[in-house]
Amino acid sequence: MSVQVVARGIGGGLLAWMLVMGNPVHAANEAETGELLVKLVSAGRAVVTENQELINDASKGDKGFTPQVFEKKQVAKFKEKTNIDLSKPDGSAQTRLLLALLEAGREVVEDNQFKINKQGIGFKGFIPAVWGRLAGEKFGQKTGIKLKLTNMDYRFPGNKPDEFEAEVLKLFADANYPKGKEYTRMTVVNGKPALRMMAPEYAGAKCLGCHGEPVGERDITGNKKEGWKEGGLAGAISLVIPVK
Ligand code: HEC
Repeated sequence: MSVQVVARGIGGGLLAWMLVMGNPVHAANEAETGELLVKLVSAGRAVVTENQELINDASKGDKGFTPQVFEKKQVAKFKEKTNIDLSKPDGSAQTRLLLALLEAGREVVEDNQFKINKQGIGFKGFIPAVWGRLAGEKFGQKTGIKLKLTNMDYRFPGNKPDEFEAEVLKLFADANYPKGKEYTRMTVVNGKPALRMMAPEYAGAKCLGCHGEPVGERDITGNKKEGWKEGGLAGAISLVIPVK
């Protein structure tokens, strides 16, 4: 695990000292949790992607894409990536957070059953980014951890990068930044220490149907395409994790 921990800001003095003096225990825990949360969101988005055709099938009513089916697939995908089996949770604080995210994502699929199972309509707007946004919102309400998708040329207003996110997105876009490396920094949010983590994403061929070229052309969702190229930076997942 490569975690870069740098404390900045006035309130970060003590933390900076603790971290520099080799006592980054808490921040290290939060960083590991952050990495796992990112992997769990990615697993959920991948499950939506893999079932997109089914979800978009106008000829079918009941798709059988139930919250339980979704969760099982997400758990399996997460296990593939991490070797952690959330169907046999260990009761640790970290696992409780992962389960909270799992629950949030399952609830989003549950809330959208009426949409998913609507017959006679093809594209229903239930896509990975929307699932991710709604799951992130619910997860935030449950845990106080902020989780969002963001990008410089964002589509959904709530995905707009804040100052920190904009700065890190710029860094990710730099040709010299190591590809795929998360960026982690201790900060002070509302007077309390928090770990901010961002994980870059890159455009796969599947993204380009909506986000690719030509710039400005409307995609299936009615949004204007951004002109991304395969392999190029495609935004980031951003987390704000309070440090106890
Ligand atoms: C079916 C069209 C479609 C595809 C395919 C698609 N996206 Fe999106 N993407 C959207 C829409 C619509 C939004 C706005 C979602 C919302 O309401 O939060 C979005 C939002 C995002 C965001 C959040 C920032 C923003 O613009 O609001 C990121 C990051 C993102 N997409 C990355 C990707 C990546 C990476 C892929 C490929 C793995 C991908 N998208 C595939 C339609 C698509």
